Amino acid sequence: MVKVADRLQGQQQSPLRAMTIRCQELGAINLAQGLSQVPPPPALLAEGTRDFEHLGHSYSAPEGLPGFREAVADKLKRHSGLSVDPATQVVATVGATGALMATLTALLDAGDGVLLFEPFYSYHLAALRMLQLSPEPVRLTGPGFETTEAALRAAITDKTRAMILCTPNNPTGRRLTAGELAAVSAVAEEYDLLVITDEVYADIYHGVTPHLAPASVGDLGDRTVTIASLGKTFSIPGWRVGYACGPPELMSRIRLAADALVVCAPVPLQELGIRALRLGDDYYQELRQMYERKRRILADGFMAAGLTPNTPEGSYYLYVDCSPMPVATGTEAAELLLERSLVGTVAGEAFYLDQPDRPYVRVCFSLPDEVLTEAADRIGRAGLTHG
Ligand SMILES: Cc1ncc(COP(=O)(O)O)c(C=O)c1O
Repeated sequence: MVKVADRLQGQQQSPLRAMTIRCQELGAINLAQGLSQVPPPPALLAEGTRDFEHLGHSYSAPEGLPGFREAVADKLKRHSGLSVDPATQVVATVGATGALMATLTALLDAGDGVLLFEPFYSYHLAALRMLQLSPEPVRLTGPGFETTEAALRAAITDKTRAMILCTPNNPTGRRLTAGELAAVSAVAEEYDLLVITDEVYADIYHGVTPHLAPASVGDLGDRTVTIASLGKTFSIPGWRVGYACGPPELMSRIRLAADALVVCAPVPLQELGIRALRLGDDYYQELRQMYERKRRILADGFMAAGLTPNTPEGSYYLYVDCSPMPVATGTEAAELLLERSLVGTVAGEAFYLDQPDRPYVRVCFSLPDEVLTEAADRIGRAGLTHG
């Protein structure tokens, strides 16, 4: 038997994938995986079909097409108030996942400690493990999931070199406030930490207050790499186009890593990505209205079931505390939901190194309204809180 690498030890098939397979077997509605089933902007598809032949089909520079980087810089300026030089501060990547891998590869060494806020997006942990970095959990507890300076400080070790933020957060839907980011900034400054911030849901915020980019707060921009994706904003996750941006001296290293990892992001899709990034404010307003409507449909189902879902400030997930159900863990809650309502969800356990503080499930609402209506109806009628 050929020896396999140690670095994947403990890495299992994602519980999300396992739930997807169970849903297929049972004919259940799958609200577990964050697979966007919302159609991309029709004009983008029409132009792509019409023009595909004439798009670039060779490699681009590792940092991406100049036009793509300019469109990213314009969008960041318009939406997050961030000023980045497209020539030296933006690298196009294979999704946000590619941006994270290139950033961790370029800026950290095996054995370095990385603060990871629990609950976390499970790929963040997987990426750390792949690169033999050491996850250092900062436990946040419901219902508020606030980040405090004390919790951050308590998690620091002599190995800590970086932290990963995620705002709006997957799974909690929380957005970091200016106060929380001031605490992050104070600790990062004191311990000279790299800050990596995953903002793939920046455009899907609920409520009137726009997204607050960590790199725009105080001096955080000097030590922050922002990673983002076109996948969520334009409902094209399969195109695998994202980007990283940050200080030029960090981005030149990330560019080298991105080149060695994958050469460049898909070129025809970078070109179509430029057109997507140039969509006007109406597009974003409609996107948020659509997700607000979808959120309500699903939340109503949980309320009818006697549960009180959270109200996410961003992202397309509900993170539901299932304490009123006759269960002790999120795993049991997800199982009961599947059995009684034929709806698949992800147990909160998927987002923690250890046991969560309550029995949570995460539920995705990036699906067609009629699917969400049917799921909400099933959830509402399933008698979930009965013993
Ligand atoms: C927080 C977060 N980051 C990154 C990703 C993946 O982004 P991409 O598909 O651009 O790699 C996801 C997808 O669900 C996510 O939820």
